[in-house]
Amino acid sequence: MEAVIRVRGLSKRFGDFTAVDQVDMSIPPHGVYGFLGPNGSGKTTAIRMMCGLLAPTAGEIEVLGMRIPEQTELIRRQVGYMTQKFSMYADLTILQNMEFMARIMGVRRAEQRGRIRELLQRFRLEPFSRRLAGALSGGQKRRLALAAAVIHQPRLLLLDEPTSEVDPNTRREFWDELFLMCESGTTVLVTTHLMDEAERCHHLAIINEGRKVADGSPEALKGQLGAGVFAIDGPQITAIRNHLEGVSQVLATTRIGLSLRVMLMPGVVDGLDWLREHLAGFTAGIEPAGATIEDVFVMATRENGAKGAGGAGR
Ligand SMILES: Nc1ncnc2c1ncn2[C@@H]1O[C@H](COP(=O)(O)OP(=O)(O)O)[C@@H](O)[C@H]1O
Ligand SMILES: [Mg+2]
Repeated sequence: MEAVIRVRGLSKRFGDFTAVDQVDMSIPPHGVYGFLGPNGSGKTTAIRMMCGLLAPTAGEIEVLGMRIPEQTELIRRQVGYMTQKFSMYADLTILQNMEFMARIMGVRRAEQRGRIRELLQRFRLEPFSRRLAGALSGGQKRRLALAAAVIHQPRLLLLDEPTSEVDPNTRREFWDELFLMCESGTTVLVTTHLMDEAERCHHLAIINEGRKVADGSPEALKGQLGAGVFAIDGPQITAIRNHLEGVSQVLATTRIGLSLRVMLMPGVVDGLDWLREHLAGFTAGIEPAGATIEDVFVMATRENGAKGAGGAGR
């Protein structure tokens, strides 16, 4: 399958700070490809380079078979980009914003009205079409931004943290829309720092401090975790957490509701037995737990940190 985006050795430096560090990536068509990383990991910088809005310091980018940034103009009308920060005109109405976007994205005049109407209906914006964009709720703003990003029916849609600031119901609706777009042939690249969004993607790249530290389908990433994860219940979990603190076999612990989630280091064999023995003095129920993307993320970002600390001094 021909990749929709292919990136090799992509790097961006701002002064002596490296925001994106030698990223290789290949994004297959017709799916949702997630770019998962904490704040400041270089997601926005990477996506802006893929749109041709920011010149890379090094590396190659190919989007829809064209070289970026050299051939950006040729693909501009086939790519939709939704910025992380709301970038519609606050002092124009929804309708005026849509009309403006239709014009600059080259939607044919005769088709503009119909297309705008269809999108306003689909994104439930029609009742507010004469309201100023600046006066919309967070969810409405996101819907407007998505409607505007797809006005020209792009083959590729780049979404930068599209739902970080909206409630879970709005987020679900938004994702339903994304899947519909995929089914009709659009490829979607979405950046996120939210684990529940990452779980929905067909394919994920995990990025930390500008570097890609893992990639694969969520299922494959969870399957390859290579570390035991356990849930511990009982009246003493605070004491247990303190007891596990700093123990070399323990990679991470986190409280989830009434239980304690413990990830052991890769290579600890018979983790359940080890934990039972180590916690023999406590009243605790200890059960193996299924890996989550959050576990994968914790593991991947830790490995990156360890390499950085011991490595070639980049
Ligand atoms: N124009 C810039 N000049 C200097 N540093 C920048 C610039 N843009 C981004 N950065 C830095 O690059 C890093 C990555 O930023 P960004 O790509 O916005 O991360 P993310 O989108 O993952 O939160 C951050 O440390 C940020 O401060
Ligand atoms: Mg960002």
